[in-house]
Amino acid sequence: MDAPEIDENGKGLLFYGDTTVEKCQLVGGQPNVYLLQTSTVLERENQLSPQAGQFYLLRSKRTGVNYGRPISVYHSETGRAEDGKKKVTVQFMMLEKGRGTQELAHLNIGEKMTVTGPLGTPWPRPDSFITGNSKSPEICIVGGGIGVAPVANLASTFPDGSYDFFACFKSGCYGLEHVKASTLEITTDDGTVGTKGMLPAVFTKERVRKAGYKVIYACGPAPALSYVKTVAEELGIRCYISMEHRMLCGLGACLGCTIETKSGLKRCCKDGPVFDSRELEFPKPAPRRKPLEANEEPDLSVDIAGVHFKNPTIASAGTFAFGQNFRGLSDVGEWGGICSKGCTLEPREGNHGERCLEVAGGNMNSIGLQNPGVPYFIRELLPGMLGLGPVVIANLAGSDIESYVEGAKLLDKTDCDMIELNISCPNVKAAGLAWGLSAETAYYCVSAVRVVTKKPLMVKLS
Ligand SMILES: Cc1cc2nc3c(=O)[nH]c(=O)nc-3n(C[C@H](O)[C@H](O)[C@H](O)COP(=O)(O)O)c2cc1C
Ligand code: FES
Repeated sequence: MDAPEIDENGKGLLFYGDTTVEKCQLVGGQPNVYLLQTSTVLERENQLSPQAGQFYLLRSKRTGVNYGRPISVYHSETGRAEDGKKKVTVQFMMLEKGRGTQELAHLNIGEKMTVTGPLGTPWPRPDSFITGNSKSPEICIVGGGIGVAPVANLASTFPDGSYDFFACFKSGCYGLEHVKASTLEITTDDGTVGTKGMLPAVFTKERVRKAGYKVIYACGPAPALSYVKTVAEELGIRCYISMEHRMLCGLGACLGCTIETKSGLKRCCKDGPVFDSRELEFPKPAPRRKPLEANEEPDLSVDIAGVHFKNPTIASAGTFAFGQNFRGLSDVGEWGGICSKGCTLEPREGNHGERCLEVAGGNMNSIGLQNPGVPYFIRELLPGMLGLGPVVIANLAGSDIESYVEGAKLLDKTDCDMIELNISCPNVKAAGLAWGLSAETAYYCVSAVRVVTKKPLMVKLS
């Protein structure tokens, strides 16, 4: 069980609260990398200052996201506020990525953000791994892209010149102002700074072996970390890696941030983010596909239940009627599949009154299964659908078991490619409860239909 981060009086050791943005500016000539600075004033003297490798959860007060985003400490200083309280000034180096980091990146000086931390495991100190007698650095640090932030923070805790530092970027460089390495080796994909290429261009097994490093610390993109791990392990060098994973609570409680390790799933926020590389398992990178020839189309086809779709897009039931309405606006023939509006054996008029309402993320509707009935669908609408080109799926709805079975028998005699059994309809013989609401009624309905058709059958639950 995790020990609570509290003192003997039950008071919290972490900071949680709103702080003021002191700096928020682009850095290193990059279009999307920001230096963000804020200060936490601690109520109690025993509250924690961050150690290198730790992170905070950050969230703008003006926000549309529900959870703070984990951002590593790039630099920190502990001093005193005007009232004498312990004050920790923390800098973060942040890549604007999605909604959460975008909100943070566009904060103005003086605005508030919510901060929780410091969290996670720090980098282990190297004192017990290095001899201190070697003429050349025994510590090697590797940072890739924004992963440079937590390792640059670590570097700033070592004496100048006592380590070598390898930094790789796509274009240009940033985050190195506190790095005072014996050798600073930079690579960029486009050659704008340092050696053109990626990490293996400078961080070769031979060079690492000759350097005689006793410990390697690394953070960056997974392929680079996997490479560093391999080199370190083949040479028998101790190696620590800081991992990334999407987080929710950041405190070890929600179990939402687990990563694969040799001893099972571990929480990135609490058991990490810093792990011994020997613990980690990186999935093998997918083999690179042969680049497409000019004018060659990629193969996006998929097979579902023996039916071949030229791509994995299916216009779902009810969204595109019977495929005709969107012709001329969308290239309907390019879709992988098209599913008909749900059809019942008998025609249905549907609901009267308001039928739909726009809500965040889409709409809520109550159409009431308006449809022309299966026989009309087969006679008048299905031929047009079959002429469009995509796989045709007939959505079959029902009210009682007989209507499902009769509808399926009729569809079985057609050229539709699949049947989608819509069991979100009310079961009139079970007080209107949807067929799909219990395993027993779902089983009853699906198995009754299964025996009357040879067509591939899929089931729509809701
Ligand atoms: C432990 C940890 C530390 C991280 N440190 C940083 C960092 O220093 N800078 C950064 O830009 N991203 C860092 N990330 C990645 C961001 O958390 C991630 O890009 C962000 O959560 C994405 O959220 P968004 O898509 O809503 O912008 C870190 C992730 C983890 C798990
Ligand atoms: S984010 Fe909740 S356990 Fe890690």
